[in-house]
Amino acid sequence: MGWDEWVRGPEVEPSLYAADFSRLGEEVERMLTAGARIFHFDIGDGHFVPPVTIGPIVLEWISPIVHRSGGRLDCHLMTERPERHFSAVKEAGGDSVTVHYEACPDLPSVLAQAREQGLGTGVAFSPETDPEEVALACEGADLVLCMSIAPGYSGQRFMEEAFERMRRLRAALPAGAHVQVDGGVGPANVKRVGEAGANLVVAGTSIFGAEDPAAAYQELVSQLR
Ligand code: DX5
Ligand code: ZN
Repeated sequence: MGWDEWVRGPEVEPSLYAADFSRLGEEVERMLTAGARIFHFDIGDGHFVPPVTIGPIVLEWISPIVHRSGGRLDCHLMTERPERHFSAVKEAGGDSVTVHYEACPDLPSVLAQAREQGLGTGVAFSPETDPEEVALACEGADLVLCMSIAPGYSGQRFMEEAFERMRRLRAALPAGAHVQVDGGVGPANVKRVGEAGANLVVAGTSIFGAEDPAAAYQELVSQLR
């Protein structure tokens, strides 16, 4: 069981980083009811990215809610030495870990350690990294994440040059690879993001910052399909 089974077509993944943490369970339930299946969970360590975000202690509260409805938790590790967190993420109910290319001098070993834990795998790359370099190095990963912002915070503006980097990535990867995009995606650009080659679209502020998050999620889905 892995990403090929979880993905129902182009997927919009609500990024919980942008949710109201005082009622996180409700926010998750509301998205499940709206049709979301894969949730994006951002773990930042205050080293690889400036902020310390959320981690396994929060994950363990929401994973039963997500799993009860057949959902999955896609954990984006914006951390140095991401492999140090794999067992805690797994135990807390994480389903997949995406690590940063820039943070992994020995990427094959890191991916192998994730697989040993029974976790899905992804490789993310920041705006300054060449997509072709990542495409060459990510063999065996379930997805490749093209950042469309500098990693760290929700609510940043989408970098227009990300369209070109997504196209280059898509061209450099084997057919059928999962391409994810993260940062600044909303109703104004989601269609173009899909056309540029992303089939997994992360959206935080454009969903949870909307007056009606369920409607905002559904609007993104309908534009993407
Ligand atoms: C930030 C995180 C993102 C963030 C996206 O680096 O990786 O997942 O939550 O939030 P928005 O959609 O608001 O840019
Ligand atoms: Zn993220």
